[in-house]
Amino acid sequence: MQRVDALIRQRLDSDVVLIRQVAEHIVAGGGKRLRPALHLIAAAAAGFRGDARFELAAVIEFIHTATLLHDDVVDESDLRRGRETANAAFGNAASVLVGDFLYSRAFQMMVTVDNMRVMEVMAEATNTIAEGEVLQLLNVNDPQVDEARYLEVIHRKTAKLFEAAARLAGVMAGVSAGVEAGLAGYGRHLGTAFQLIDDVLDYSGDAGTIGKNVGDDLAEGKPTLPLIYAMRTGTPAQAELIRGAIVNGGRDEFAAIVAAIEATGALDYARNAARREADAARMAIQGLPESAAKATLMELAGYSVTRQN
Ligand code: IPE
Ligand code: IPE
Ligand code: MG
Ligand code: MG
Repeated sequence: MQRVDALIRQRLDSDVVLIRQVAEHIVAGGGKRLRPALHLIAAAAAGFRGDARFELAAVIEFIHTATLLHDDVVDESDLRRGRETANAAFGNAASVLVGDFLYSRAFQMMVTVDNMRVMEVMAEATNTIAEGEVLQLLNVNDPQVDEARYLEVIHRKTAKLFEAAARLAGVMAGVSAGVEAGLAGYGRHLGTAFQLIDDVLDYSGDAGTIGKNVGDDLAEGKPTLPLIYAMRTGTPAQAELIRGAIVNGGRDEFAAIVAAIEATGALDYARNAARREADAARMAIQGLPESAAKATLMELAGYSVTRQN
């Protein structure tokens, strides 16, 4: 991971000063570096030890970082990684454009790996993420969004990059199609659990711990699973309250909404859904040969559910 971090800094280089300023701002904020870690651990579990794994791990983190720059503009968020978002510090235009820089830099880096399957997997993943974010945009302020439509969004916007991170480890290791599918399935289920919990933390987390503001999803009128479930199972009054909050957005009803979410057990429902995804992730890689890396992947599945940040 130290090598990945060194590469990330090196590859941020540009003679356009604003690019370095904006990119450094978000990169220096830290972040969990979970996706590059997933790639390295999966590479170890699949038996790939080549240096290209560091470059690919950095590519994956660049794509993730680009999506965050864009996501915070769209979500009008002003706190990320415990600091001001890039859009709050430098404005929307700079965030969008530097996000584009990171996306395209990631593709420059990927080309150096010189493997058509790698290009194919990453091209598909980035395209799917964009679809997921646009699909989510269509769902905003729509109280009709049900669990299936919500899951469709999170599979695309979040799970797909986890899937690619794990799948690429198999591609580089040259494993069989079956083993590659197992790694990909692991990543997809892990990423789904991860986003389910992200959406739980948006109502129950501590801003100091998650490094983001709680309540951003409600403010934006985003129908995530806690709201969808509470609306479906709550009293008519609770359902009406949540419906109004989705349609209008804003933070005014935050306390009352959290009370409705708690009363209906919506957070536990979402946590249980995440637990099932984590179980499915573990199942997907059962066939891998035993190793310390495989054991770590098993642990990582649990962490995606119990995490507090
Ligand atoms: C945030 O991802 C975006 C989601 C998919 C929920 P992370 O929680 O991995 O963000 P960082 O990189 O650790 O800041
Ligand atoms: C994840 O969704 C965004 C991407 C996958 C790009 P969120 O909007 O929930 O992420 P946070 O909470 O802002 O990190
Ligand atoms: Mg967001
Ligand atoms: Mg979120």
